[in-house]
Amino acid sequence: MSQPIYMDHNATTPVDPRVVEAMLPCMTEQFGNAASRTHAYGWAAAKLAELARERLAKGIGARPEEIIFTSGATESNNLAIKGAAWALGRAGSRVVTCATEHKAVLDPFQALARMGFAVTVLSVDEVGRLDPGRLAGALVDGSVLASVMLANNETGTLQPIREIAAACRERGVLLHCDATQAVGKIPVDVDALGVDLLSFSAHKIYGPKGVGALYVRRRTPRLHLVPLLDGGGHEQGLRSGTLNVPGVVGFGRALEIALQDMPRESVRLTQLRDRLDVAIRSRLEGVTLNGHPAERLPNTVNLAFSGVDGSALLVGLKEVAVASGSACTSADPKPSHVLLAMGRSKELANASIRFSLGRTNTLQDVETVADAVVREVTRLRQGSPLWGGRRA
Ligand SMILES: Cc1ncc(COP(=O)(O)O)c(C=O)c1O
Repeated sequence: MSQPIYMDHNATTPVDPRVVEAMLPCMTEQFGNAASRTHAYGWAAAKLAELARERLAKGIGARPEEIIFTSGATESNNLAIKGAAWALGRAGSRVVTCATEHKAVLDPFQALARMGFAVTVLSVDEVGRLDPGRLAGALVDGSVLASVMLANNETGTLQPIREIAAACRERGVLLHCDATQAVGKIPVDVDALGVDLLSFSAHKIYGPKGVGALYVRRRTPRLHLVPLLDGGGHEQGLRSGTLNVPGVVGFGRALEIALQDMPRESVRLTQLRDRLDVAIRSRLEGVTLNGHPAERLPNTVNLAFSGVDGSALLVGLKEVAVASGSACTSADPKPSHVLLAMGRSKELANASIRFSLGRTNTLQDVETVADAVVREVTRLRQGSPLWGGRRA
């Protein structure tokens, strides 16, 4: 059987061959340790890493010295959230986040709660947006940090980060933003957004897995973070450990390519995304969009199919690789916390599918996938008590 059509680009992306090409010499000829100051191998590796840092900085409107390399967005989020809370707060200090964040944000907040921090997790509206006014109201005295994502990984919904940043700045609270799903897909500029810390990751933008970055705003006095790792003091003391030079070089090249392609690719993906949505919803009743209709990533459409069992739907859709609204990692699939936070029922969350398109997808893919979805949903609804005998 041929490989299913890949529509799970928010989970990860294939590495672009141009990225592989940039990385290969760093594993063979230019294999030096970027921290080796005594010979040409080290200097060459350091030069490559600094070029990558410059590319990443330029890509988000930052300065090279504001970029800290990490192992991925999970680590960047942990470093930003725990590092800032430990540096600025103490037990009892308030830290604020939002219910639809990725687990790589929610779990560090839970860890802070166990350490005695006062944690507020704000709710969202039915399209997944956080009201900046609600956030402002939650930033009571003693608040030190807020963390709100730019684009949601499940629904693609974009948060009003500028307004959120303004509310934080007014109250002297640091703002961290998980921009893992946004960088490389939509323009991201740290100054225009007004964020202090921003996480992103290579493998979401056709770069290698296991490489990420944290933007740390240079301000006066200098923004201090407590590092997660103690060691050789690499990355300005914030992330000890020998630098993954091939990884960061690939990351830099991947972002460069994504930004070059963005004007064309974001238009193309928006058209494909909307075609997929129309091709499904014009032929099926009882399908609703999870997420904001307009303020959304160009590549993401998440649909809820009433009256079908989500896991049966996924099993039936053999010709496409997509993500569902339930975490299938356990015997008892848990409905997505993001969809539940948006007010979806457990059943509807489980019967939701995220289609995340990317460079590999064509109009033909979209038509094939839409046909398959219509076929499977119709089949599953026939005579299903969940569909209540309505006509599919
Ligand atoms: C919004 C968001 N944050 C963080 C992560 C974690 O990124 P990484 O795989 O680089 O650790 C992901 C990836 O799934 C994500 O989508």
